[in-house]
Amino acid sequence: MSDQRHMRINLNLRGVGFHTAAWRHPDSAPHRVHDLDYYVELVRAAERGLFDSVFLADMMTFPQSGSGQNELAWPLDPFTMLAGVAPHTEHIGLIGTLSTTYNDPYAVARKVAALDQLSGGRAGVNLVTSTGDEVARQFGWDRHTEHELRYERAGEFITVLNALWDAAGEPVEHHGNHFDVSGALDIAGSPQGRPVIVQAGASESGRALAGRFAEAVFAGSSDIPAGALLYDDLKARVVAGGRPSTDLAVLPGVVPYVGSTEAEARRVYGELEELILDDGGNIARLGQELGLDLGAADPDGPVPVDDFPAVEGYQGGVTRLVRLRAWALEEGVSLRRFANTVYRSLGVIHWTPVGTPEQIADELESWFRGGAADGFNVLVPQHTRQLDAFVDQVVPVLQRRGLFRTEYATTTLRDHLGITRPNLARAA
Ligand SMILES: Cc1cc2nc3c(=O)[nH]c(=O)nc-3n(C[C@H](O)[C@H](O)[C@H](O)COP(=O)(O)O)c2cc1C
Repeated sequence: MSDQRHMRINLNLRGVGFHTAAWRHPDSAPHRVHDLDYYVELVRAAERGLFDSVFLADMMTFPQSGSGQNELAWPLDPFTMLAGVAPHTEHIGLIGTLSTTYNDPYAVARKVAALDQLSGGRAGVNLVTSTGDEVARQFGWDRHTEHELRYERAGEFITVLNALWDAAGEPVEHHGNHFDVSGALDIAGSPQGRPVIVQAGASESGRALAGRFAEAVFAGSSDIPAGALLYDDLKARVVAGGRPSTDLAVLPGVVPYVGSTEAEARRVYGELEELILDDGGNIARLGQELGLDLGAADPDGPVPVDDFPAVEGYQGGVTRLVRLRAWALEEGVSLRRFANTVYRSLGVIHWTPVGTPEQIADELESWFRGGAADGFNVLVPQHTRQLDAFVDQVVPVLQRRGLFRTEYATTTLRDHLGITRPNLARAA
């Protein structure tokens, strides 16, 4: 079994990387972002680093920022992409994102079970409730479903998924507020007992959902005290729900900039910052995200925090809204600087260390030992150079310190994470 004292490491895999200007860097390959071989190479690099898993996000929308900076971020449909990657990898977990708002649980149970079968028990699914009216209109709705209602639907959705997976081919009867499912899944049994369920929303309803069902959470915390608060809250909810606290892996996001010396790390960071096209596109994007008209706002003036929507009744991502407001108030920066920071490097939402492999490892160790993390969701600022730097330079330091595995001792995602197999209704 997996050693509980080891960190879990997930690669959050996105196009050319998470830095807004990564696509402009000469070492990046923006022309390959829809190329399966490119993803195979990246996932194999993560597997060389003995990562627990790789994760593909899915916002189901094409960002119309107008700045041209973010359009290269999105991969193709995650589960299709992961099915292509699976035969080229052996151990690494494969986690795709699916929306509980715009999908049907039977179809999702089947899709995830298929990846699980063909990867030998390495599938996980990040279940999100999605954000924004643009997505709603793609599916024939005028507006996105209200926050509480979409989380209620998500809870029932996951109940149905687990019932179908656990029934191992036997018929299921579910009749609830949102779904009526009568019948059996045509894929019986999972090599890992059940695919792994991941969650990433930190609003009250998101945490409640995680407490009931999640086996890993992708968290967004920018410092250890905030990370530890979220960590303790999530673990308490898991225990209150009758599961051991170790059955949830809390994985805060980290955007590491690695250099063999501190000066080189700063150069890597600086090089990417230099490439940002400051054409005001990020201010327009902020306005679009928060529903504000920022067309006449002074880019060098203060962030109009008072105009931000109230949390009460906000239908977008609540966690993100709270973080954005707090950061704007704490930092007191100009609107231009604020908008650029929000979209260029995710520095507002996730923690962004810049340093040598030892310095990055020190920080990871502090979060891990400080009760803020079971491991990390690594958001690489630029592929493939910075992924290689993490794998080849940071991972060996963690291994030398006994904080990370030196070989895969297990073959399924659930076992890598050390999450117990569910008690199946029908024991095999
Ligand atoms: C690391 C991370 C990855 C996420 N990936 C996705 C995603 O792929 N698709 C999506 O719609 N939302 C994604 N989200 C957003 C959340 O899952 C959630 O839907 C959103 O924060 C709104 O929920 P909340 O109001 O509970 O915060 C992600 C969040 C985090 C922190």
